[in-house]
Amino acid sequence: MLRDKRILLGITGGIAAYKAAELASRLTKEGNTVYVCMTAHATEFVSPLTFETLTGQRVVTDTFDRSAPWEVGHISLAQKIDAVLIAPATANVLAKLAHGLADDMLTTTVLAANCPKLVAPAMNTGMYRNPVTQDNLKKLAEYGYTVIPPEDGHLACGDSGTGRLPHPDRIYEVLEYTLGCEKDMEGLRVLVTAGPTREALDPVRFLTNHSTGKMGYAVAKAAAERGAKVTLVSGPTALDAPYGVKRIDVTSAEEMYHAVLDHADDADLIVKAAAVGDYRPVHISEQKIKKDESSFSLTLQRNPDILKELGAIRKSGQVICGFAMETERLLEHAKEKLIQKGADLIAANSLAEPNAGFGSDTNAVTLITKDDVEVLPLMTKEEAAHRILNKMLTLK
Ligand code: CTP
Repeated sequence: MLRDKRILLGITGGIAAYKAAELASRLTKEGNTVYVCMTAHATEFVSPLTFETLTGQRVVTDTFDRSAPWEVGHISLAQKIDAVLIAPATANVLAKLAHGLADDMLTTTVLAANCPKLVAPAMNTGMYRNPVTQDNLKKLAEYGYTVIPPEDGHLACGDSGTGRLPHPDRIYEVLEYTLGCEKDMEGLRVLVTAGPTREALDPVRFLTNHSTGKMGYAVAKAAAERGAKVTLVSGPTALDAPYGVKRIDVTSAEEMYHAVLDHADDADLIVKAAAVGDYRPVHISEQKIKKDESSFSLTLQRNPDILKELGAIRKSGQVICGFAMETERLLEHAKEKLIQKGADLIAANSLAEPNAGFGSDTNAVTLITKDDVEVLPLMTKEEAAHRILNKMLTLK
């Protein structure tokens, strides 16, 4: 979550300008100061009053507005911000920024600013795909801008294709990735597993568990925000890959095993948050299994224990963290896992703890190493993820 940041939200003249209102609202509610700067065309789509009401700050559109609250117009604004985000960014403003043109309050301020700059292009597909626009985007990326790619879909002009402004939550995530954390994990490679696995019985059925992947995704996101290069091996979940994270999708425990072993050698830290199925059916029926009146039994065979394999056989200097979700005797079971699986750290949590189970946004983990046990209180999974990473960094 972003807090106490000063963000210049640039809004240019496209129909997606209304989506910026949600962004301005969220950033303000979370304790950031949002200065909104609109181009003249943007004010045709949404009234500055909307943003003034949402941010509690005066909206600026005119470079020569003498009543603006900052002392020397665009220069003082440029100096006081932590980041500038232009969403939506039209083809026109991208072209101007790519060539250093500064003919209104927004472009003069951006040119003067020396902070992270993000642009979220949104326009008709033809305009977006036009080589001129693509060249301008390339140029902006070379100048250090973060370009938040537009999404595919139905566009206001009636066309379908690339050009839609991403959902405000996605844009927020990129801003969070840019500004949220000190980059203390730069240069580190982190491998994370998350989510459940599925073991097929037949073409329509599978064995699985209640994991939603939230804890592992939170670890991947936290590590990426701290500057690490993150690979996330994920079982089936409903979650989007965090910004900046390379995701590898797998279904079964065996697929997860191969994906993890393929990437383990390159990793500095490995976090095994996935709820891996311990067993799979010996036989997968090619056709749908039909019922009859008798009882039905399934013969299962063991899946590889990925964590154990990493800890005992493949370990080559990586710091390895496993998870243990228990319903009873948490510490005892978790300590056993630490030793048996050759992990450096076990993040243990009890299903008996309220708001710390599958699918919740919070967790209460106990961090267990061979030397100590640290009981953390209930916190968001994002905070817990940072605490786990902090602990792993001390074990490096
Ligand atoms: N794990 C794994 N491969 C498996 C099973 C588990 O890598 N086949 C990892 C999990 O990702 C987790 C840790 O081992 O980091 C503990 O998983 P958990 O399901 O709590 O324990 P199990 O080893 O399966 O033991 P049990 O089910 O008996 O509690």
